[in-house]
Amino acid sequence: MRRRRTFGAMSAPASASAAPALHDARPIGVFDSGIGGLTVARAVNQLLPQERLVYFGDTAHLPYGDKSTAAIQAYSVKICDVLLRQHCKVILIACNSASAAAYELVREYVGSKAQVLNVIDPIVRHIGQHYAGREVGLIGTKQTVGSNVYRKKLDALDRDIRLHALATPLLAPMVEEGFVRGAVSQSVINTYLSDPALADIEALVLACTHYPLIREQIEEYYQGQIDVLDPSAIVAEALRELLQAHDLAAPAAVRPPQHHFYVSDFTPSFAESTRLFFGQEVNLEHYPLWE
Ligand code: DGL
Repeated sequence: MRRRRTFGAMSAPASASAAPALHDARPIGVFDSGIGGLTVARAVNQLLPQERLVYFGDTAHLPYGDKSTAAIQAYSVKICDVLLRQHCKVILIACNSASAAAYELVREYVGSKAQVLNVIDPIVRHIGQHYAGREVGLIGTKQTVGSNVYRKKLDALDRDIRLHALATPLLAPMVEEGFVRGAVSQSVINTYLSDPALADIEALVLACTHYPLIREQIEEYYQGQIDVLDPSAIVAEALRELLQAHDLAAPAAVRPPQHHFYVSDFTPSFAESTRLFFGQEVNLEHYPLWE
């Protein structure tokens, strides 16, 4: 695939000798097991409103958190094909489970056709910078916690960060079903957060892209005593840096770009929940990838 580049009208060089800034109008591909990754897409849209997004939610295979590594790898590669066919310049794996299971493989598969970013490395960097010598908790799916990927990456930083990870498999389906406020969700959340595995932590990483929707309830549980770390904004910032480093930022747009949101299995309940996750009206398109 040839890289299409445009020179933006707003990018006049500061001096006659300075090279003009390069721009790239191709979209950013974002994928998740379902609609949870829309919390990341939302943060990207807020920080980089000129970037066009192609979102793929593999709702046919939700939840990824309970699937084998091999299955998640196979789904991820097939989704990358879709995103590459849409000429995506970056593929953002907006799912911790897929980032844990398939990031290395996806990078190898995509090669030089696109940049690949996962949702784990940016938050690991952030924790390394701000929580050296401290106790950090983490909640995520069975796949994410079982992979030990956060622990391995944090240990590699050698900053004496002690990670207390707990698999919380009921949370993603609960959120996907719209239970984000009220007695049911509060009781499930409280049961998990009172687990001895999370005792004495000073910060908690929301290591699943569904969890920003229950952040308020999690914060209520802790009453401000610990930092609740929502990676969405941190990932969006890492994406901004990646685009800049590779001259891939989109040119300034007069009108907001037209995003596309695909799901591999369509149900009205997904359609209803998307507004909640993305923060604005979303037109979900059915992309029958597995039929
Ligand atoms: N959103 C996915 C993640 O970040 C979890 C949901 C699932 O299990 O599919 O891990």
